[in-house]
Amino acid sequence: MDSLSKFARQKLAEIKTKGLYRQTRPTVRTKAGGTARKDGNFISFCDNDYLGLNHHPDLIKAAEAASKKYGAGAGSSRLVTGDHPLNAELEAKIAGFKEGEAACIFGSGYLTNLGVIPVLAGRGDLIIADRLCHACLFAGSTLAEAALKVFRHNDLDHLRDILEKSRNKAGNVLILTDGIFSMDGDRAPVEALSDLAREFDAWLMVDDAHGLGVVEDGHGASFKRGHRLDVPLQMGTFSKAVGSYGGYIVADAPVIDLIKNRARSLIYTTGLPPGVVAASLKGLEIIETNPALSKKPIQKAALFCTRLGLPAPQSSIVPLILGDLEATMAAASKLAAEGFLITPIRPPTVPDGTARLRFGFSASHKDEDILRLVDVIKGKRILP
Ligand SMILES: Cc1ncc(COP(=O)(O)O)c(C=O)c1O
Repeated sequence: MDSLSKFARQKLAEIKTKGLYRQTRPTVRTKAGGTARKDGNFISFCDNDYLGLNHHPDLIKAAEAASKKYGAGAGSSRLVTGDHPLNAELEAKIAGFKEGEAACIFGSGYLTNLGVIPVLAGRGDLIIADRLCHACLFAGSTLAEAALKVFRHNDLDHLRDILEKSRNKAGNVLILTDGIFSMDGDRAPVEALSDLAREFDAWLMVDDAHGLGVVEDGHGASFKRGHRLDVPLQMGTFSKAVGSYGGYIVADAPVIDLIKNRARSLIYTTGLPPGVVAASLKGLEIIETNPALSKKPIQKAALFCTRLGLPAPQSSIVPLILGDLEATMAAASKLAAEGFLITPIRPPTVPDGTARLRFGFSASHKDEDILRLVDVIKGKRILP
């Protein structure tokens, strides 16, 4: 065995010993909301397709038309010839919906965070991130040469303490949070974070991957009752509620101009395929013109929570934290045997000892399926 394969086998053995081995599995998600795998047909509660737009005929039609007109791929980086006209259209649309001056779209949400954070925070600067921020916010922070401090989840006192002790020693300060936390489903106190950021002259960046299309009539967690909060960096993705793919950042025009000049994950990578951008445009249009649709995922989650006696959901995501790895895997298997697909979430995606079942609710779920899921959870004694 060569040293490379030996290295890989050893690492895999360690992963398997810890019970953390993962595999990709071909999965066919269907228009009717079902999900098929080699091992059976399921109703899935682990997608992020919160509005059921993945299979919406208008998105598919838009993707087809754009592919015919502009080609299946972008052909090069946006800064070379890959900037087909739909990019500017989508940037104007997301900036308008988020009430910002300008936007820059990226290949994905992950690439957005990898690109944007190092542009804004460099040597001598400080990044302060919520402990439960998504992995790509930490990945972007690692690429930046700034110092990184972490505050306890949603703990404003801890953040203030860090700011009081460190603000004056740093150049620029960037505060990072998810708008809706991806594995916990709770919401960040964005208004209070924004007040703190202003008080200490720090820049607040909210990753609203799970808020867009779901909270505040679809506008996301940087809004409150119809008003845009003071969040200078609104980041998100088109890959969840919007039903398509790609990431974005909305900010003032000079900030976006700088990002377009400096973000390496924009400059040194091929632009998004035209069909994907066209689908995002259509998905956003549906969200903008249909606020009642955006209310549905939380209504579905609320039905689930009420029946199980859980606290009211703050988003479309509801975790059942079981803690123990084996118990979590066993619970997922019991649900699968009853036709429900819920991927168990394990470390390192979540902190050690907090393995969980993460339920994602969609406008396309039928109430009767949610009620049957509740019955199975009760019957199989899956509640923590
Ligand atoms: C909070 C958060 N940010 C960013 C991303 C990455 O977005 P994308 O899937 O578009 O790369 C995710 C996806 O899981 C996420 O949950």
